[in-house]
Amino acid sequence: MPEPAAAAVRPSGRNTAVGPSARTDVPGKDEPSACEEEHVSPNPVTLSTAELVQRARGLAESGERRLLGITGAPGTGKSTLARAVVDALGPELSALVPMDGFHLANATLIAWGRRNRKGAWDTFDADGFVHLLRRLRDQAEEYVHAPDFDRDMEESIGSARPVHRDVPLVVTEGNYLLYGEGAWSQVSELLDEAWYLELDATTRHERLVRRHEQHGKTHAEAEAWTSGSDEANAALVAATCDRADLRVMVTP
Ligand SMILES: Nc1ncnc2c1ncn2[C@@H]1O[C@H](COP(=O)(O)OP(=O)(O)O)[C@@H](O)[C@H]1O
Ligand SMILES: [Mg+2]
Repeated sequence: MPEPAAAAVRPSGRNTAVGPSARTDVPGKDEPSACEEEHVSPNPVTLSTAELVQRARGLAESGERRLLGITGAPGTGKSTLARAVVDALGPELSALVPMDGFHLANATLIAWGRRNRKGAWDTFDADGFVHLLRRLRDQAEEYVHAPDFDRDMEESIGSARPVHRDVPLVVTEGNYLLYGEGAWSQVSELLDEAWYLELDATTRHERLVRRHEQHGKTHAEAEAWTSGSDEANAALVAATCDRADLRVMVTP
């Protein structure tokens, strides 16, 4: 399947009817992406993890179910920040629902000839993710059981993360939350707030190589995956940065 052009990203309809707590539209969404070229925008704010936890706490204490999305290129620290937020707020206030739980199974990717591009935008069950976000917004069920992703097995695990109806803040994180192709275009309107993480290319590359090595790749394999598949995904994600409510560089 050919890679889509980044230009195919279209503005999302965040102001469609999903209830009072849904996001309104973001200024400048029709302008060219400011951080598409360098993967870093000219004017991100710099905030500490503690400051971002406080911002998330504001959402959690709003009195209504809120969905916070954390996005950014591979290796920018989305999963690390999301875990830090949920750990700091605790299970009464927050729950984590990773987009990575919607990775298609390896058997499916092999059958479809896409195993070597696992992590690309079309190697996820984006429709399933959107349905799950809708269920989380609707709060009709006592529990929504979200899937997780096991990096060692490189497989999703169904229903691994029960989210109780009364937990006010759901934090979701992943590459394609603001992407415009296919079902991904419906995610943005389901979020109350979207943060786009930025990190210089060198540090991001180093962290990705290390992470691949930690999960079993040789150094050469880790370098090849980081420069190839991860970089192709990063270019698509970078083109979505100006749809975020907050573009942020995170300090420890
Ligand atoms: N502040 C940090 N300092 C050093 N390493 C970090 C930091 N944040 C994340 N990492 C590491 O960088 C790698 C990528 O972070 P991760 O949260 O997995 O990124 P993402 O989810 O955006 O792909 C991981 O191995 C993680 O442990
Ligand atoms: Mg991650």
